[in-house]
Amino acid sequence: MNKDVINEILLKALDSVSDGISICDKNGYLLYVNNACCEIVGADKEELLNKKVDNLSPDKPMLIEVIEKKKSIIDIEYFWNFKGKKTHLINSGYPIFDENGNIIGAIDIFRSIERSRKLANTIAGHQAFFTFNDIVGESNTLKETIHLAKTFSKSNESILIYGETGTGKELFAQSIHNYSNRRRKPFVALNCANLPNELIDSELFGYEEGAFTGARKGGKPGKFELANGGTLFLDELGEMQIDIQAKLLRVLETMCINRIGGNKPINVDVRIIAATNRNLEEMVEEGQFRRDLYYRLKVLCLEIPPLKERKRDILLLAEYFIKKLVDKGNKYVKGIDNKAKEMLMKHSWKGNIRELENVISRSMFACDGEWITEKTLFMTGFKEPRYEEIIKKQSIKINKDILIDTLNSTEGNKKKAAEILGISRPTLYKFLKKYDL
Ligand SMILES: Nc1ncnc2c1ncn2[C@@H]1O[C@H](COP(=O)(O)OP(=O)(O)OP(=O)(O)O)[C@@H](O)[C@H]1O
Ligand SMILES: [Mg+2]
Repeated sequence: MNKDVINEILLKALDSVSDGISICDKNGYLLYVNNACCEIVGADKEELLNKKVDNLSPDKPMLIEVIEKKKSIIDIEYFWNFKGKKTHLINSGYPIFDENGNIIGAIDIFRSIERSRKLANTIAGHQAFFTFNDIVGESNTLKETIHLAKTFSKSNESILIYGETGTGKELFAQSIHNYSNRRRKPFVALNCANLPNELIDSELFGYEEGAFTGARKGGKPGKFELANGGTLFLDELGEMQIDIQAKLLRVLETMCINRIGGNKPINVDVRIIAATNRNLEEMVEEGQFRRDLYYRLKVLCLEIPPLKERKRDILLLAEYFIKKLVDKGNKYVKGIDNKAKEMLMKHSWKGNIRELENVISRSMFACDGEWITEKTLFMTGFKEPRYEEIIKKQSIKINKDILIDTLNSTEGNKKKAAEILGISRPTLYKFLKKYDL
């Protein structure tokens, strides 16, 4: 093919992509910029072409760094400051050599940070899947809670969700996000119980390259940045250490974050939904939770009723879980017989809906006919536990060493540790307090 035709196609191709591309000669004069480059930085081609690139932005341009170092720089965050407009980019620069290995110029390819975040969120699964339609229940208390949650969805204020373990706090948090006008933006979750203090800090706010030993090259954005435009779900907020609470409060007030080791404040637009099964009011009285943060979050407070307060939903949910498992291709079970229904209705459901879901899936395995009976339930170990007795017995068995070993094996995940030890999470917390852990 003729060289002119190839050149024409190449130039058209570069103008068809949505990544910004600019090319300079070895002295830093811009030889080429594509359409996307002009759009992203907000400039006309004439304003850029043949201009020395270091005169176009007060910060050192990546193209100049590439020419000086004669090395590629890949996927680095970069701020292009053009005529007072600061554009936050992810940028890669590559040196261009002639056939003798002499540098003749450099090319850089970049995209807006929003596009990169969107990609990161898609890959990391920062999405909410559940909607209010997935919340099963006919009881008035649940319907009222859903109604309240829907009205909260329309506001931008932080929401505090309180509920016993397994009541559906995360389900509600996701549904609220999907009902709000942030639904097309990320839903990012952070479990405050699973992370040591220092990590929560960097997980929430991110860090710059070299902020501490072991910090990743190029730095790392925090959950606040990843959730920009969307919702940040802070699960198990009651576990958050008090000094992080202070930082969280400051961000809620200013909507501005600073990465660890960074000096560029970043504005964020994030809606917080926090969840806890701890009594925060009590924690405030005991000095374990900041009063100012508590009052700030408490404005929109959603209390998810425990299953024992919505007895009407027990059988409905049980049948819903059976259908879900049958549809998934599990063994066919018609339903629950009357005696077994009575047992389910009488149970205290300390583990709430998660416990019910577990009981039903175990019963489906154990069931030898078409109906789940009293016998099936007994076979799965279903019985009304007498909690005080269990705790008494376990305080003899579960000593500090076992507790520490289990927590080490779950890397600090308290939920998993409680499951391994066969105790509820509140019981685990009692032990942690008892042993001063
Ligand atoms: N009303 C409901 N309808 C259908 N499924 C539900 C309902 N409520 C909860 N679930 C299911 O029960 C399980 C527990 O819910 P979820 O994880 O939201 O509870 P949680 O309150 O966050 O629990 P934890 O305190 O243990 O973190 C999930 O599998 C969820 O899908
Ligand atoms: Mg949860």
